Amino acid sequence: MKLLEGKKTADQIKEEIKEQVAQLTSVGKRPPHLAAVLVGTDGASLTYVGSKVKSCDYVGFESTLLHLDENTTEAELLAHIEKLNQDPTLDGYIVQLPLPKHINEEKILLAIDPTKDVDGFHPANFGRMALEMDAFIPATPFGIIELLERYQIETSGKHCVVVGRSHIVGRPISILMSQKGAAGNATVTLAHSRTKDLIALTLQADIIVMALGIPEFLKADMVKQGAVIIDVGITRVAVATHPKGYVIKGDVAFDEVAPKASYITPVPGGVGPMTIAMLLKNTLLGYLRKA
Ligand code: GUN
Repeated sequence: MKLLEGKKTADQIKEEIKEQVAQLTSVGKRPPHLAAVLVGTDGASLTYVGSKVKSCDYVGFESTLLHLDENTTEAELLAHIEKLNQDPTLDGYIVQLPLPKHINEEKILLAIDPTKDVDGFHPANFGRMALEMDAFIPATPFGIIELLERYQIETSGKHCVVVGRSHIVGRPISILMSQKGAAGNATVTLAHSRTKDLIALTLQADIIVMALGIPEFLKADMVKQGAVIIDVGITRVAVATHPKGYVIKGDVAFDEVAPKASYITPVPGGVGPMTIAMLLKNTLLGYLRKA
C-alpha cells in the first residue's frame, strides 16, 4: 500500500506557483489576486476560507476576504458580487458554500462572472468542462486528477466507481475521469444514495472515489484487493476529549481498507490540501488568461 500524500503534492504545487509569481513580480507585473466571500460564521467554512487566505499569502498572491454578517440579504450579497465582477484588479473569487438558508445559492452562483469563477461552479464553466472546452475546473475534482496524474496512476480502461453525486465533487469527477484527458479514459459508474447493491459495484472497482460525507462508510469487505482509494470525506465528528472538540473523519474506514489498497489518500492530508492548491492554480490560470 502506498499513501497518496496530498499534503506533500499540494506543497509542491504551491512551491511551483510561488516561483511563477516571483518571476512575474520580478519583471514589474502585479501578483494574481483572489477574493473569498464568506457569509456567516460556520466553523468549517471559517477554517477553509482561513486556509485559502493563508495559502494566498504564502505563494505571493494578493487576497481579499469579504466576511459578511449572517443576516446579509440576498440583494446585498448580489450587490457585493457585482462589485467583484467589475473590479479590474481581481482575477478570481469564490463564494464559500453553504450559504445561509435565506439566500438562494443558485441565484448567487449564476451572478458570478464566469471569467472570475475560479471554483468552476457557474453553468458556463461546468458546461465547458463537460464539453472538454477550456474552463475553470472545480478545485476538488481538479485536485484528484492532479494527484492521480502526479502519482502516475493508470486510469485508462479502469473501472472507477464514484460514490456521491454532488455538484462540487461526485458529478464533475465522474465526467472528468470518463473524458479523454489527464487521469481519464476510465469507465465510470456514478453511485449514490439510491444505488442498489453498492457493494457489488465497489467490489468490481479498480478505483473508488468516495464523496459521500458519511464517516468511515467504505469498509474493507467492499473493496477489491489492489484498488486505488480516493477519500474526499471531511466530516467533523464530535469527540469531547479532543482539544478541538472534534476529529476529522473521511468516508473510508482507513485502518481496515488501507491494507487492501494499492494506493490510498489519508484524511486529513489527502484530497483536502489539493483543493486549496488547485484553487490557487485556477486563480493563476485566470490571471494568465487576462495577461
Ligand atoms: N464548500 C465546500 N467546498 C467548497 C469549495 O470548493 N468552494 C466553495 N466556494 N465552497 C465550498
